[in-house]
Amino acid sequence: MGWFPCSGQSHSKLNSKKKRKVKDPIRPIQPSPEKLKANAALNSQETPKDAGSNQIAAKTFTFRELAAATKNFRADCLLGEGGFGRVYKGRLENSTQIVAIKQLDRNGLQGNREFLVEVLMLSLLHHPNLVNLTGYCADGDQRLLVYEYMPLGSLEDHLHDHTPGKRRLDWNTRMKIAAGSAKGLEYLHDKASPPVIYRDLKCSNILLGEGYHPKLSDFGLAKLGPVGDNTHVSTRVMGTYGYCAPEYAMTGQLTLKSDVYSFGVVLLEIITGRKAVENSKTAGEHNLVAWARPLLKDRKKFSQMADPMLQGQYPERGLFQALSVAAMCVQEQPHMRPVIADVVTALSYLASQKYHPETHPAQSSQWVPATPPRTRREGDKRQNGDTGSEKKPK
Ligand SMILES: Nc1ncnc2c1ncn2[C@@H]1O[C@H](COP(=O)(O)OP(=O)(O)OP(=O)(O)O)[C@@H](O)[C@H]1O
Ligand SMILES: [Mg+2]
Repeated sequence: MGWFPCSGQSHSKLNSKKKRKVKDPIRPIQPSPEKLKANAALNSQETPKDAGSNQIAAKTFTFRELAAATKNFRADCLLGEGGFGRVYKGRLENSTQIVAIKQLDRNGLQGNREFLVEVLMLSLLHHPNLVNLTGYCADGDQRLLVYEYMPLGSLEDHLHDHTPGKRRLDWNTRMKIAAGSAKGLEYLHDKASPPVIYRDLKCSNILLGEGYHPKLSDFGLAKLGPVGDNTHVSTRVMGTYGYCAPEYAMTGQLTLKSDVYSFGVVLLEIITGRKAVENSKTAGEHNLVAWARPLLKDRKKFSQMADPMLQGQYPERGLFQALSVAAMCVQEQPHMRPVIADVVTALSYLASQKYHPETHPAQSSQWVPATPPRTRREGDKRQNGDTGSEKKPK
């Protein structure tokens, strides 16, 4: 999914395979002292500190080394492509280390700024649920980032790519991924000092290691959070359509609760298997949060929201609790959303409650397609209009 200023209309390339970032926000917001303060992180001692380490550990590489690692950026080494460029799998010379190398498009300063933020943030922040930056290359006008290789790819690949034969994510794995991702966010919000607002939480930025261990990636949009008496950071509205908190999209005022909203969208995707924005769906189902809101008001409708790919294999109570957490995170009013530490507590508990399909029968009676069908079974009392009154996404 490409980056774009989320205050505007859905970008036409949102669903395209070849992704492009949009560089200029539609609605510029005047710089404020807070913004200048946050931006100062790029060149001052105000960079966030990891509790244990504030050393810059990333190595520098020459372009030649990275070209050699990727066999000259050969097509068969390509892992994927995002808003900033292509990502290749590579093996570093004289080492057995496999890495993922992101080659940024060489088209302008914006990318360079995000490159610097990414290098600084990932050099200073270290947590088991954040991707490791092995190093970077800033040779001439080349900008490349070298990350640890995450063998299972992104959460987006697993949730939304239904290639036959691909293992579907079971309930326990989904809860593990949700809890781990929340812990990565909790580290940014509560352990980094000053706090870091991630600003780009989405399924494609949650990468999976062995055993589906999740790590957050892509910190180019991250901002230092408010310090002192400030409640927010004012900034240009950047992010990804469908994940952006409504108040941030409308005012450019960024808080830690903007990330909590995005986390709620991700959690809804994990539970429902639906995309944050699904252009192929009808108006009422186009935006995941707009589709989910009316269903979340009625516990009896929760089972309709479970991903059909789960084939009814989930704990009823666990589904209810996970959806309740998601519902709190995506509330319109930021102050009504929980802090991420509370989300971590709830999801860690849910992840610890292992579901065993052998001992728990599938929720067969409730296993209906997550999209309430237009033509209902005879005798089904649910209203067809359940999703008809949703508002368009902001
Ligand atoms: N460290 C990594 N290990 C393995 N695969 C990776 C790694 N980093 C990225 N990828 C793969 O490359 C793809 C593209 O990543 P990239 O971050 O460039 O784009 P994106 O997340 O899809 O979009 P955006 O640019 O908006 O973040 C990912 O979806 C993932 O499949
Ligand atoms: Mg990404």
